[in-house]
Amino acid sequence: MKEAAPRAVHLTDYAPFSHIVEHVHLSFDLRRSATRVTARIGMRPNPDATRGPLRLDGEGLTLLWARIDGAEVAPRLDATGLTVDAPDAPFVWECAVEIDPSSNTALEGLYISNGMFCTQCEAEGFRKITYYPDRPDVMAPFTVRINSDLPVLLSNGNPGASGDGFAEWEDPHPKPAYLFALVAGDLVAHSDRFTTSEGRDVALNIWVRPGDEDKCAYAMDALKRSMAWDERVYGRAYDLDVFNVVAVDDFNMGAMENKGLNIFNARYVLASPETATDDDYARIESIVAHEYFHNWTGNRITCRDWFQLCLKEGLTVYRDQQFSGDERSHAVQRIGDVQMLRGRQFREDAGPLAHPVRPASYIEINNFYTATVYEKGAELIGMLRRLVGDDGYAKALDLYFARHDGQACTIEDWLAVFQDATGRDLTQFKLWYSQAGTPVLDVDWRLEDGTLTLKIDAAIPETPGQTDKALPVIPVSLGAIARDGREVLATTVIEVSETPTRVSFDIGTDDAVPSVLRNFSAPVTLNLDLAKADRAVLLAHDTDPFNKWEAGRMLAKAALTAMVTDGADSDPDFLAALQPVLADETLDPAFRALVLGLPSDDDMAGTLALAGQTPDPDAIAAARRDLGHAMAVDLESTLTALYDGMQVHGPYDPAAADAGKRALRNAALAYLTKLDGGDRARRQFDAADNMTDSLGALVPLIRIGAADDALARFYQSWKDHRLVLDKWFSLQIAAAPGTEGAAIAARLVEHPDFDWKNPNRFRSVIGALGMNHASFHKADGSGYALVADWLIKLDPVNPQTAARMTTLFETRARYDADRQGLMRDALDRISAAPDLSRDTGEMVGRMLD
Ligand code: PHE
Ligand code: ZN
Repeated sequence: MKEAAPRAVHLTDYAPFSHIVEHVHLSFDLRRSATRVTARIGMRPNPDATRGPLRLDGEGLTLLWARIDGAEVAPRLDATGLTVDAPDAPFVWECAVEIDPSSNTALEGLYISNGMFCTQCEAEGFRKITYYPDRPDVMAPFTVRINSDLPVLLSNGNPGASGDGFAEWEDPHPKPAYLFALVAGDLVAHSDRFTTSEGRDVALNIWVRPGDEDKCAYAMDALKRSMAWDERVYGRAYDLDVFNVVAVDDFNMGAMENKGLNIFNARYVLASPETATDDDYARIESIVAHEYFHNWTGNRITCRDWFQLCLKEGLTVYRDQQFSGDERSHAVQRIGDVQMLRGRQFREDAGPLAHPVRPASYIEINNFYTATVYEKGAELIGMLRRLVGDDGYAKALDLYFARHDGQACTIEDWLAVFQDATGRDLTQFKLWYSQAGTPVLDVDWRLEDGTLTLKIDAAIPETPGQTDKALPVIPVSLGAIARDGREVLATTVIEVSETPTRVSFDIGTDDAVPSVLRNFSAPVTLNLDLAKADRAVLLAHDTDPFNKWEAGRMLAKAALTAMVTDGADSDPDFLAALQPVLADETLDPAFRALVLGLPSDDDMAGTLALAGQTPDPDAIAAARRDLGHAMAVDLESTLTALYDGMQVHGPYDPAAADAGKRALRNAALAYLTKLDGGDRARRQFDAADNMTDSLGALVPLIRIGAADDALARFYQSWKDHRLVLDKWFSLQIAAAPGTEGAAIAARLVEHPDFDWKNPNRFRSVIGALGMNHASFHKADGSGYALVADWLIKLDPVNPQTAARMTTLFETRARYDADRQGLMRDALDRISAAPDLSRDTGEMVGRMLD
């Protein structure tokens, strides 16, 4: 049912629920198109809330009957729930509803994926299962009975009685409804055990469709390492007797942290050397960790309301980043995290969808699972830690868990534990949560008489609805490197709390270069004028690995900018500065692979736009291709040596050491393929015994337009493996040369395997086109039109996935008038679609404002 005019929800409107829920019992009679859900819920009036009738959320439910204390009642039903008068004393609410999982294509609530029943309740899906106060501050213990002939019946918590055609589950930990989950299907488990630091023997199961049980070992390994890490680093042990993970094929997001029953998009669980790349393995590790870590940061301590989403997501992303850094490499992890932050969050912050880490209002909460809430939210945790120090952070977290276990909390609660544990006043820091936009630091520096002086001006650009902004405190980490390579100022953190801020350091030489914003100590844009030669000094000698990499990146951006705007040739100084780093055997190969990568076209477009220019997608693509070619020519002997020297011997091991070598070797191959017509890549493709090396060869072949044969063979080998077939779809679009991606995508939507209702497959085609900058922005508008056509088609089927993908248009304002007009036409067409969902309607509305 559609509401006429969707209304915004405001942070300031918070009021506690009228009742306290003491216990929930749910009973499911699972049938594909007529599942019956019976609920028995103990409630009592909430002494801290205003009295009123009982209001329960419910959507798309057929109410069969309702009782209060055993007596039939007749609630008033409307499109979003029901209202009923309830006694002014404890009572039991009971009702039975019927729902139709088989027609649930939105994948929210109870749905069917490949014959398997499963649920997705965050944020507001539980109301599609039964009538309930579907809000995170209502927490209760749940018991569940599932009646079904399917062999495996799962829900949250510990297993209870089970028998022929039924299973019962008990979750003793009070939880909000968004953490409810149920799974039923013909599944097999990959099982293991883990004994917690508290002596609890936990059964671990990863449930998959028969045939996939050989692809669970890595996720299980990652799970056990996550459990041990959370005990070691945060003192947090697991709290149930079982931990179940289920892989599903149809899932809108990455994964979901339901209590004791995590549900994953299959692509973030299943891996074998033949089917998954090193990057897939790394993502599986981090997502398994992320969902597991939510058990404490999200589940035991949850959010009071959805405005506080960053309370669980920012913190949990921060924790999974820390974990991956500990397990692999902090330098490589940090560079990857910053690339992702800049690529997605800075882009979001610079456009019409910019919003604070804690938004003040929303129309559809599903639209706020964003890079800002997640990734910028994680950066705020990192800054807090920098401000209070490691010990202060540890004390604050201990206090957080001790004080708030079992509660639904706010950002105020979170900041209060830091203030109370460390004595630090965080009033100015708190601005980070309420102001959108990426702060800009303009740094002037001088070096005289052995003194390094910095003057830092800081400001936050305007964002929709926010013009006049105050300065939040910004931790800026810095050092200095003498031109002979010595570090003359070790890493120091200064706090920029006013503008301008002036600092000086006695460094004993005038022949040095400042290294500012080490380890990317704050999510800001840094404008620091450094000569090319000085950047080369940092690339060669900076002791801070992030800034060492960043120096190379700045040189690459300067070279590309000159090529795009002045038609310059590729910069020989940049090429000369790269060579010794690439050849430096003391550097981690994974790090060197990152140094070898060029900024993406989208990154360059954003960089040019920030500098006040209008990016030309074709010119950017051409410059990137030309610079890549010049690198290949200039560095050929180094690249050849790396390609030959970085071979990995022995059986495939996804761990960081071997993965780093493969990354560097394949990065070298990508350049060499520009020179050898694809000979090496074809040989590698033929010989590869793992997906990393297959794709490491296939992608460069696609880029030079010489992959027809390899793609055909790849399809033949993998046409029955959906996750690998997703790669086949996406790579030939995303890596297509020039603007060919638009036509290839238009062809592939006709392919019989384009199962567009599967979100992974949809993203592999339509999302992949968005990842090919020059093709999506093809001057004739065909890229925009194709995306718009498909979003219009997907919206009524799966509004959440359609709405997320509208963000492809968020950069409209960067481009020339013709492209802006074509993008506006696309948005107008989406906006005019009949019965547009609230999800997509909100997104498109914000972009058309
Ligand atoms: N809470 C999930 C996570 O971050 C993400 C998610 C949100 C999944 C909404 C499904 C729906 O781990
Ligand atoms: Zn999360």
